[in-house]
Amino acid sequence: MKNLVCLFVTIAFFLSGCKNTSLPAGGRNTYAIIPAPLSLTEKTGEFTFSKKSRILLHPLNSQTEISASFLASLVNNGAGFSPEISEGDRPRNGSVFLEIDTAVSNPSGYSLVVTGNSITVKAGSPAALFNAVQTIRQLMPPDVEKPFSGTVNKLAIPACEIKDEPRFAYRGMHLDVGRHLFSVEAIKKYIDLLALHKMNYFHWHLTEDQGWRIEIKKYPRLTEIGSIRKETVIGHAGRKPNQFDGKPYGGFYTQDEVRDIVSYATSRFITVIPEIEMPGHSLAALAAYPELSCTGGPFEVGKTWGIFEDVYCAGKEETFSFLEDVLTEVFELFPSQYIHIGGDECPKTRWKKCSLCQKRIKDEGLKDEHELQSYFIRRIEKFALSKGKRIIGWDEILEGGLAPEATVMSWRGVKGGIEAARQNHDVIMTPTTYAYLDYYQAEPADQPLAIGGYLPLEKVYSFNPVFEELTEEQQKHILGVQGNVWTEYIATPEHLEYMACPRMFAISEIGWTMANKKDFEDFLARFEVQRKRYDALNINYFKGEYRDTRSVKKQ
Ligand code: ACM
Ligand code: ZN
Repeated sequence: MKNLVCLFVTIAFFLSGCKNTSLPAGGRNTYAIIPAPLSLTEKTGEFTFSKKSRILLHPLNSQTEISASFLASLVNNGAGFSPEISEGDRPRNGSVFLEIDTAVSNPSGYSLVVTGNSITVKAGSPAALFNAVQTIRQLMPPDVEKPFSGTVNKLAIPACEIKDEPRFAYRGMHLDVGRHLFSVEAIKKYIDLLALHKMNYFHWHLTEDQGWRIEIKKYPRLTEIGSIRKETVIGHAGRKPNQFDGKPYGGFYTQDEVRDIVSYATSRFITVIPEIEMPGHSLAALAAYPELSCTGGPFEVGKTWGIFEDVYCAGKEETFSFLEDVLTEVFELFPSQYIHIGGDECPKTRWKKCSLCQKRIKDEGLKDEHELQSYFIRRIEKFALSKGKRIIGWDEILEGGLAPEATVMSWRGVKGGIEAARQNHDVIMTPTTYAYLDYYQAEPADQPLAIGGYLPLEKVYSFNPVFEELTEEQQKHILGVQGNVWTEYIATPEHLEYMACPRMFAISEIGWTMANKKDFEDFLARFEVQRKRYDALNINYFKGEYRDTRSVKKQ
């Protein structure tokens, strides 16, 4: 009997352990890909780059060259030489063959075969090819992330066969630059991080009560006045009475800088979705153009955090012509089909007292101020659609009735998203309960000041955006997930990285990896490898407890 148990244990060890425990020391780490691919078969041997290695592209064009150049530069960093990129129609010994193959069933999918002789990728699209290169990157040592230092003379990729495709079409990260501004260079580094995490959308929150951050040629006061606040609240805004630092704070992105960032993201197959907030969170715009409010002002750009009662007047035609002008310039800068129009946290206090808003309610046969907000968003949607754009709004846009084609970003939990999917609207899941990366990731006492909450890596990772309440058809409206980084309490790129990483890896695995392949312990083991890449990239990631220990501590 004892022997039989031993036999079972041995068989179980080999069956389950082939991947994780039976490899030679260090072996397990070589295949530490995040997000975990659809399937991975480990093979013996490795491919080693030589000075004769080429990167063959089929076809060679501006889109596929992006991935080839990306790979060539990693090889150059790691090995000290850059493989030549040329056109080729089949794999060749000693070389990398990157092919766009329309026979790959999912355009976002790819296969990757690494043998001792060659590396072959077949990708359904140039974007999928780029993600395949990110996988190759993660199979390389972390040294490839830094300029060649002469320390790596053999650059090898472990042999394997991978088939991969994302679970969701939308995998995004958000960044609020209204509360705190980040340099063009910092935004590019953030976009680089998104690429490493196989994200394909960057949601750029550009306007806020505390600052308008995008140059609009027709309305120069938006940046002359709206981009600068007189001072900033010190510490947590909830702690009353507020104290202020007495220092002006501001800045904005010129249209040239916006174009530069959009083009940088495009060359990493990332779509930038701009957010222009309305009707609420618009105090900075109203400080510049008070005539767009219900009361006429005057106003100053927000100095503390929270929700402000002065919002765009929904009764004035000027509000709509202003927003249409602004959006016209924004549409020209961003090729994205989506535009985010905010829609969250809009108090109705002013509208209730405003004769023009009340007249609008009467004239349009609306029931109340919620329907007035719905009127506002529908009108903006109609304009956006007329320019070939589709709107995304926070889940408050459900109140008073959804605009006919709006996509809903569910943030106050998942309820709004579920309701929107029931109404056959597309949904992006970004609930505070799992995806607000401005929340504390460990015990607050040991952490830099944050807005609140408690969202350790394990909790983020546990999110599964599938809902029993939805039919299979309705479930298809869940386009994907996004991590949000609001920056009331995040003022530097180092702090941004600290809050975003490694939770961004968890968001990435929720969005990419099939639910049955998810395993937090395995994820942590893979992260133990990939954190060295973060180190090489000089990312200031959080290095504390990744498990959700609070329930244990509270007992
Ligand atoms: C939000 O966090 N107000 C969308
Ligand atoms: Zn009004």
